[in-house]
Amino acid sequence: MSFFSLKNGVLHAENVALTTLAAEYGTPAYVYSRAALTAALKEFQDVLGAHPAGAGALVCYAVKANSNLAVLNVFARMGAGFDIVSGGELQRVLAAGADPKKVVFSGVGKTAAEMKQALAAGIFCFNVESAPELERLNQVAGECGQKAPVSFRVNPNVDPKTHPYISTGLKEAKFGVAYEQALALYRRAAALPNIAVTGIDCHIGSQLLDPSPFVEALDRILALVDQLTVEGIQLHHIDIGGGLGIKYQAEQEQPTVASYLNPLLDKLAGRGLQIVMEPGRRLVGNAGLLLTQIEFLKEGEGKNFAIIDAAMNDLMRPALYEAWHDINPVAPRDGASRDYDVVGPVCESGDFLGQARPLNVQPGDLLAVMSAGAYGMAMASNYNTRPRAVELMVDGDTVHVIRQRESVEQLYAGEAVLPA
Ligand code: LLP
Repeated sequence: MSFFSLKNGVLHAENVALTTLAAEYGTPAYVYSRAALTAALKEFQDVLGAHPAGAGALVCYAVKANSNLAVLNVFARMGAGFDIVSGGELQRVLAAGADPKKVVFSGVGKTAAEMKQALAAGIFCFNVESAPELERLNQVAGECGQKAPVSFRVNPNVDPKTHPYISTGLKEAKFGVAYEQALALYRRAAALPNIAVTGIDCHIGSQLLDPSPFVEALDRILALVDQLTVEGIQLHHIDIGGGLGIKYQAEQEQPTVASYLNPLLDKLAGRGLQIVMEPGRRLVGNAGLLLTQIEFLKEGEGKNFAIIDAAMNDLMRPALYEAWHDINPVAPRDGASRDYDVVGPVCESGDFLGQARPLNVQPGDLLAVMSAGAYGMAMASNYNTRPRAVELMVDGDTVHVIRQRESVEQLYAGEAVLPA
């Protein structure tokens, strides 16, 4: 079910017309549906609740996908945990009402200060990604008089068959520890005074539409768990990472959460391991869109451009990954369409949100760039001194401003000119 649909010829977010939102809050605007966020998390919770191995499982939303406090708070209220990758994200989730005991800390470059911050908060686990990180964590935990709970992010060397920039589980990747080195690292960790070995994790990549690499990865990880058991290293949890894909085109199919999770849960049944997962995109991607207005239509030589008021700084994915986002008129017109490159005002040829899109549009029309809830606002920048967009969350008939539009003054507030 989509929470963005046409009613009386106008695209709505739940019960609110996008034309109303544009008139009231301006464009560009990120628009989220609370019901869509809730439904996405509930799909995970329902599958877990229906499987015997799912009891006690922890869904840790990967904050990087969309870190707005309201989004985090909606998930926290539903009992979710969080997967963070920085001290900043830790501060955010705590501000949004997260339970620190449900927070896992991933990332290859944790600083000593971030480790201290996470130890003080009392997080669930550090997902450690290298030998030097383990040594640093042991030292920092010792200084804090604590034992740090540790899981190693193990690289199962499985090809997720996704875009190379978002594949992370191959052995060339900077992420995780090599499968072959994992055993030695666990032995070392078990011997360190300020480390408590609690788990194992892996994350092989993002936007996977075929769930079979997840099964392959889990098989590899479970073989390691068995080896560890033989050595007397008993784990408490297994974190299967994130990466489940979403459909970016209306006519595309996406795997259900059940088709992704159930085969994994079947393998995990009876092992006595708490199951943790780190979905990001799947929980927020199709719960948000980017609302933008056409400034000009420009006829080029053999190409037409729809120049909009959103740009690559608002949504980087097309420029960065050649990612596809459906672009829909908010109030579709009858009649013939022509092909447009939908481009922003930023001074880069890569500044497009879509290319050769058949549209029947006029200047001033509103467009909705779909599936923009994940890695949209979270990756937005101020390039070209463009203030970042307002973020709105629709809940039934109600609209909440969950982040105000930035002002230009805010952009240079921290800057200073040289003394006279
Ligand atoms: N866990 C770890 C350790 C991760 O690195 C990531 C994403 C996730 C979980 C969540 O993955 P998801 O469920 O969202 O696929 N900016 C790119 C995606 C980068 C993903 C980075 N890591 C994009 O816009 O496609």
